Amino acid sequence: MPARRRWLAQVLAGSATCVGAPGWLRQARGADTARFALGVASGCPRPDSVVLWTRLTGPDLPPQVDVTWELAHDEAFSRIAAGGVERAEVAWAHSVHAEPAGLEPGRSFWFRFTALGQRGAPGRTRTAPAAGARATLRFAIASCQRWEHGHWAAWADVAAFAPDLVLFLGDYIYEYPSMPGAAVRSIAGGLVTTLEGYRERYAQYKSDPLLQAAHAAAPWLVAWDDHEVENDHAGLLGGLPFTDFAAQRAAAYQAWWEHQPLPLAMRPRDGGLPMHLRLDWGRLARIQLVDNRQHRDPQACPRPGRLFGSGSVVVDDCAELRDARRTLLGSAQEQWLAEGWSLERPWNLLAQQTLMAPHRTRNRAGQIVAWTDGWDGYPAARQRLLGTAAARRVPGLVVLGGDVHAHYVAHLNADPEDARSPVAGVEFCGTSISSRGPAPARVEAVLSHNPHLLHGDGRHRGSMLFTLDERRLQADLRAVEQPADPASTVRSSARFTVEAGRARVERG
Ligand SMILES: [Fe+2]
Repeated sequence: MPARRRWLAQVLAGSATCVGAPGWLRQARGADTARFALGVASGCPRPDSVVLWTRLTGPDLPPQVDVTWELAHDEAFSRIAAGGVERAEVAWAHSVHAEPAGLEPGRSFWFRFTALGQRGAPGRTRTAPAAGARATLRFAIASCQRWEHGHWAAWADVAAFAPDLVLFLGDYIYEYPSMPGAAVRSIAGGLVTTLEGYRERYAQYKSDPLLQAAHAAAPWLVAWDDHEVENDHAGLLGGLPFTDFAAQRAAAYQAWWEHQPLPLAMRPRDGGLPMHLRLDWGRLARIQLVDNRQHRDPQACPRPGRLFGSGSVVVDDCAELRDARRTLLGSAQEQWLAEGWSLERPWNLLAQQTLMAPHRTRNRAGQIVAWTDGWDGYPAARQRLLGTAAARRVPGLVVLGGDVHAHYVAHLNADPEDARSPVAGVEFCGTSISSRGPAPARVEAVLSHNPHLLHGDGRHRGSMLFTLDERRLQADLRAVEQPADPASTVRSSARFTVEAGRARVERG
């Protein structure tokens, strides 16, 4: 059996979680309720720190539990780099967010947790390179993992790539009730609207061994999109009629923080949570992760009787689309981004939720139609973002996204309405981990009406894997052969490169 398949078989059988644990701990685990059933995660790597995450599981947990964490240079944990104790509290779902400080930059580490006589499986993580250091970066982007739609071989593929960093770009959970028929696997519970419901949904998603393997392989930066709260919500607009959507969103934000490797400083307060962040990867790249849900204006021209919600609208019939005051990021975050580009580094990665390039189509009457939930619904804000980046000559602008359940590769014009304007950057929008994709005819129509889209493929689930150095970006578009099989083969369906200093995508 090849090494990767052997490793995968171990993960699926659960035996990989015992690697490195002494005999007495393995015996204790067999006798007791599993306290680390959701695995581990790490995130927000900085040159001197990284967040280490786990959540205790099982019945009869005391209200407070002291959890010991260790960070080591080696898998055998013989050379300890840092350690400590964090208190897991029932008020925060017994989640643990340890933040070792004073670490060496640009180093990889192993970490693990111990509590209640049990030791969890170890994870790998790393610190970001020092601000002025030369560096390379292997990273993955992924999004949209609807549980019922398939198994997550895409995550096994990401873990096998051994990235330095994973960027998760939204729809980590879906709030929907289990779908009738055609489900590959069923989800517990109905439509999720409460703190308890969100916690249960995360716990089921995070029980998946392949997702756990991807979290244990590298630190993540995590963004939400709509389904972490509710489909299509916009700011504080959402929810069923006569329900308190502000309370629902606060519960969803709390559960999101409890289940992701996020620092204490991001713990939600007063119903809000500052999700956007900036991370420098040595002198190679600046990564900016933005939030397109919390601060947006409502979608333009919603259905009659509604204040928000997505739809396909005829552009000429929707005057609101042309209102220059409307924003997808909110004006404060838009300003933060415009001032945040790195002019010293060869690459600027913008991690966000959805396809930025125009992907409008025509209806049977020949009228131009736009989908209002994505950037096509906020054209003035998109023009400001790309126009500012072009005017400031932002080097190596690479926009990364998800949401549309299809792989797209694009050139981004400084004025997206004018194909003759200079190219300000390139875009790689990754397909879904498991959520089903659009009909092939839809992708064909989008490609034929939008020549700046160089590639589109909605047939495959998967991720995108990138290798970045000072000279070039290489992108592999990954495709799962059998979405219903957790051991499916995953292959590259296409490969693209971008040379530093040239905002041009080349095939191959
Ligand atoms: Fe999605």
